Order: sequence, then structure tokens, then C-alpha cells
Amino acid sequence: MDYFVEEVLLNHQQIVDRSKELGDIITSEYKFKTPILIGLLKGSVPFMAELIKYIDCPMEMDFLKVSSYSGTESTGRVNIKSDLAVDIFGRDILIVEDIIDSGLTLMKVIELLKERKPKSIEIVTLLDKNEGRIVKELIPKYIGFSIPNKFVIGFGLDYNELYRNLDYIGVLKPSIYMK
Ligand code: IMP
Ligand code: MG
Repeated sequence: MDYFVEEVLLNHQQIVDRSKELGDIITSEYKFKTPILIGLLKGSVPFMAELIKYIDCPMEMDFLKVSSYSGTESTGRVNIKSDLAVDIFGRDILIVEDIIDSGLTLMKVIELLKERKPKSIEIVTLLDKNEGRIVKELIPKYIGFSIPNKFVIGFGLDYNELYRNLDYIGVLKPSIYMK
């Protein structure tokens, strides 16, 4: 096991298998809708790449970059760093997220996107830390895995920009962020 990891929560195969299940469900629900998948940069990239392999209907993709975190603490503030390239008016939107914790980031993103009058907005998240939820009404339609309230890394998730490249999800050793 990597020295900075305390525990492997989800191995690569588990993530792939679950992405396929979610892809199949999304395919059946969006078959005639040509959805736009909107990935939140940068954490959603590996999951988005895996998920779309299993979405077997016409779809588009775009990315939005916001920031809300530094280190392991949520600040609750969201800044738009890079906006969408496509017009989402009248379209079916599926936001792709790596993890939802407090829900503050996504709440702000959804408020912003709603102003542009899409037809629908749903969320697919690889991970859900529902113990950490502050925005209680934020309920993702599609969830990969519900996980305990621990700081995790890998498969897109970072600690100070590191570890996004791991092909699994692990719990970061506390000694790494105590340093
Ligand atoms: P929220 O606003 O508290 O829901 O935080 C969501 C964002 O915080 C995610 O998109 C991640 O970028 C980041 N985040 C939350 N929990 C973790 C974690 O355990 N590891 C890495 N990033 C996290
Ligand atoms: Mg993120």
C-alpha cells in the first residue's frame, strides 16, 4: 500500500464496476434526451472518463471550474474559475462530481446553472459523505458510493493537488496533513 494511505476504501475494480452500473442507469433514463454532462474540474475528470464509457446514448460534455476548498477544510465560498463553453438553455444537465461533503459547493453551482434555464438538472457523484452534509436538501440522484466522514484521495480527489492520479480511493494518513 502507498505510504500516505491509511486504508484503501475502494479499489479500482470496484470503481469501474460501479461506474458501469451508473452508466447503464443513466443510459436508460437519458436515452432520448441528449444530456450535457458537466464535470466539475478537476476532481471529476477520472470519474467522468470512466462513466461515459458506459453511457450508450447521444450526450455532450463540458466542464466548469470552481473552487471552495483549501487543505482539508471547507470554506463554504465558491469562486467561478472557468465557465462553461456551451449554452445550457432548455437542456438536460447532469452534473458530474467526485464527492459531495457539505453540499455547499454544489448548491452554489446549481443556483448559478438554474439562472441559465436548463430543462433539468441532476447530479451524479462518485462519492457521498452524507454525515458532512450542511445543505440537507441536496440529494444527488445517482451516487457511486456512500462513504464515512474521512478525508479521501485518489481517482481525481486531491490533497493540496496531489494524489489525483491514484486509480483507487484511499483514506489519507493523518500524519501527511499534520506535517
Ligand atoms: P462540499 O462543498 O463540502 O460538498 O465539498 C465538495 C468538494 O470538496 C469536492 O468537490 C472536493 O473537491 C472537496 N472534498 C470534499 N471532501 C473531500 C475529501 O475527502 N477529499 C478530497 N476532496 C474533498
Ligand atoms: Mg471537487
